[in-house]
Amino acid sequence: TSASTYDYIVVGGGTSGLVVANRLSELENINVLVIEAGGSVYDNVNVTDTGGYGNAFGTDIDWAYKTEDQEYGGGAPQTLRAGKALGGTSVINGMVYTRAQKSQIDAWETVGNKGWNWETLFPYYKKGEGFQVPSHYSWLEGSGVAYEPADHGYKGPLKVGWSSDQLNDGLAQKLNTTYQNMEIPIPYNKDANGGQMVGYTLYPKTVDSKLNIREDAARAYYYPYKSRSNLHVWLNANVNKLTWKTGNDVTADGVEVTLANGTTSTVKASREIILAAGSLKSPLLLELSGVGNPDVLSKYGIETKVNLPTVGENLQDQMNNGLAFDSKTKYTKAPDYVAYPSVSQVFLNATAVGKQLLANLPKYAAQVASANGNVTKSKDIERFFKIQWDLIFKAHIPVAEILLEPSGYTYDTEYWATVPFARGNVHISSADPTAAASIDPKYFMLDFDLQAQTQAARFIRELFQTEPFASMTGSETSPGLSSVAADADDEGWSSFIKNNYRSNFHPISTAAMMPKEVGGVVDTSLKVYGVSNVRVVDASVMPFQVCGHLQSTIYAIAERAADIIKAEN
Ligand code: FDA
Repeated sequence: TSASTYDYIVVGGGTSGLVVANRLSELENINVLVIEAGGSVYDNVNVTDTGGYGNAFGTDIDWAYKTEDQEYGGGAPQTLRAGKALGGTSVINGMVYTRAQKSQIDAWETVGNKGWNWETLFPYYKKGEGFQVPSHYSWLEGSGVAYEPADHGYKGPLKVGWSSDQLNDGLAQKLNTTYQNMEIPIPYNKDANGGQMVGYTLYPKTVDSKLNIREDAARAYYYPYKSRSNLHVWLNANVNKLTWKTGNDVTADGVEVTLANGTTSTVKASREIILAAGSLKSPLLLELSGVGNPDVLSKYGIETKVNLPTVGENLQDQMNNGLAFDSKTKYTKAPDYVAYPSVSQVFLNATAVGKQLLANLPKYAAQVASANGNVTKSKDIERFFKIQWDLIFKAHIPVAEILLEPSGYTYDTEYWATVPFARGNVHISSADPTAAASIDPKYFMLDFDLQAQTQAARFIRELFQTEPFASMTGSETSPGLSSVAADADDEGWSSFIKNNYRSNFHPISTAAMMPKEVGGVVDTSLKVYGVSNVRVVDASVMPFQVCGHLQSTIYAIAERAADIIKAEN
């Protein structure tokens, strides 16, 4: 069944888009159309296999966006992965389900988003979640996984729990003892999803524990509901831009879409257009529609409909590096274990580091502003940076994520500093919607970002020299002591880090929810400033990076967005 006009058009059937479409289509008198550029991956083994992380990379369900050459980060361009399928990036991600530190979400309110804080978002994390209690799965016995019942939701569509990839050979417990034995002990955290993340923990994932397959946005929010006659999905269809009503206020009346067969047409929405194309696409759709920085738009002959120069700015991502070590025992499964240390657990001289960083914030803010032609203002960025500084040095959020992954005779690690200060941007580079964008995260633009990334590597070396882990490990195989000496200074680490990092695939904030006067693109109801009926509900709206992986927070934002939209209509 298909209607000629829809009440709502959701652009992008990904992680956030399917949540909003599902919740709006709970209202029987409302017609919702989801337009998704990719196809269905319901039976794609690169998606469903819980141990298949990475198998989908480079295939036709990966957008594999390319960045500009990274001037401060090794010179080469980076690849930014993103899912091109019903389910979006949730079909190719690492499935990790971790939220944020409470104070980080509270900072969204501090920056000027009244009503957006941990207390108001926490119920939405739980609303979406269908937590699977580990004691129901016998293979998890002895694995060390644990949870705090009050921190989870049990009736939501999104299955969260553990897969059979979890080990129950005592490794989790030995790792726990090792963390506690470090010079500055890392405490055990039973459940990192209650707003307190610091410590060593065994996090859950988006998996169907019973079937042992990936849980993604489509499996959770679409397939079980696809018989709803008011929920429509077009696959393999690319939205090119919004179309506008004639009149005095700026109101969208539909979108221009190119279908799988190559034909381009317009489809109408009577109420709203909801952008959920991801943080590297939604801002571009605004620009292609005339909402953005007139200097960018005029370069490509696009008439400015709404002068909103910060569209595409504030891009924040993290950088991912890894160290590897020989293991004395062989592992047949490849689970991962995480630790979230705070700044005083990673830097022995945290107070001095904090003082120096604080003194550098005005300079950093000026550097960011000048890099984007003062589109975002130095004084505003300085304020954001001070909020970020307070989170690190006063609220003691995790300053790094340390992942340990045994496999075969190897311990791989992956790590990243959680809250880099660099701000980049994404903009169109043509009026052609199929053309590649200009994406520039500006990795390592600011010294502290490298310093934090370096210190986290030293932390991992210390971990592997601490008992009982030290006795279980052979030598460091990457980078290895001949490449980066045991006593290497920051400079000694720098070339390894800058030549071997990748994106951590957590780009956010390109249509930031903030007051307009400090550079926001959407207001607290996620509506684009200056436009009466267009919202953004994806990773683009997050004003600051979170310490947990992104998806749980994106699902929660989208759950709340649906309630906001319902309440207004
Ligand atoms: P998302 O990308 O999900 O949705 C956007 C949708 O819009 C896509 O389906 C896309 O095809 C579609 N689209 C784009 N342009 C369009 C157009 N013009 N017309 C129509 N459709 C269009 N997070 C986490 O919590 N745990 C993890 O383990 C990981 N691991 C991880 C690994 C990798 C490799 C990546 C790339 C990312 C992660 N993440 C993660 C991050 C997380 O998965 C990601 O941030 C969210 O899924 C993004 O959700 P969005 O709704 O913002 O966009």
